[in-house]
Amino acid sequence: MKGAVFYDTKYGSTAEYAGWIGEATGLPVSNVRRDDVDPGAYDFLILVTPVIYYKLLMADWVQKALPALEGKPIVIVTVSGAPPGPKLDAWVGDSLPADFISNANHVALRGRQIPGELSWYDRAMLLIAAWRNPDPVASEEERNGFDYMDKDSIAPVVELAEELKARQREAPPPAAIV
Ligand SMILES: Cc1cc2nc3c(=O)[nH]c(=O)nc-3n(C[C@H](O)[C@H](O)[C@H](O)COP(=O)(O)O)c2cc1C
Repeated sequence: MKGAVFYDTKYGSTAEYAGWIGEATGLPVSNVRRDDVDPGAYDFLILVTPVIYYKLLMADWVQKALPALEGKPIVIVTVSGAPPGPKLDAWVGDSLPADFISNANHVALRGRQIPGELSWYDRAMLLIAAWRNPDPVASEEERNGFDYMDKDSIAPVVELAEELKARQREAPPPAAIV
């Protein structure tokens, strides 16, 4: 089947992951803000999105693209500070329709946050979040940043993409016999 990588990014780390996935799979890579590419033109999609303020940055784009994505195999790749677990699952659940999530595969990758690169607004908001966060590790990361970028961590995404590429396109339903 024919697939593509669609991504969004705020500070570049998700763009880097999307590029690595494109390189490893040979799939075309599009930025959903910059490139005018129709997701309907593909049989399966890999959606790579950061988590920003407890929500997937691509949530609105996915809502709009739902008719074009309906019934297609989807791999959701999240890039976050938080590790995989119930907290991340809850943010994914709050961002996308339940049936869309249950029909998709989700791979959680960890990104990068460099305080000096952030806008003053994001820096201030993250300092407030750090002050209120009861989790000491997450609080420290919100205050001082982190870098978990790891090219090898895309392996499960590449594996899923290779499986999907090898799969035959769904046969159309047989014509009715009259
Ligand atoms: C303003 C802001 C808000 C963030 N909110 C969250 C969050 O709610 N949960 C989380 O796990 N990580 C959060 N992060 C961490 C990002 O998911 C991480 O830095 C990611 O790599 C950013 O991707 P990007 O570089 O493509 O924008 C936040 C980062 C920023 C800058």
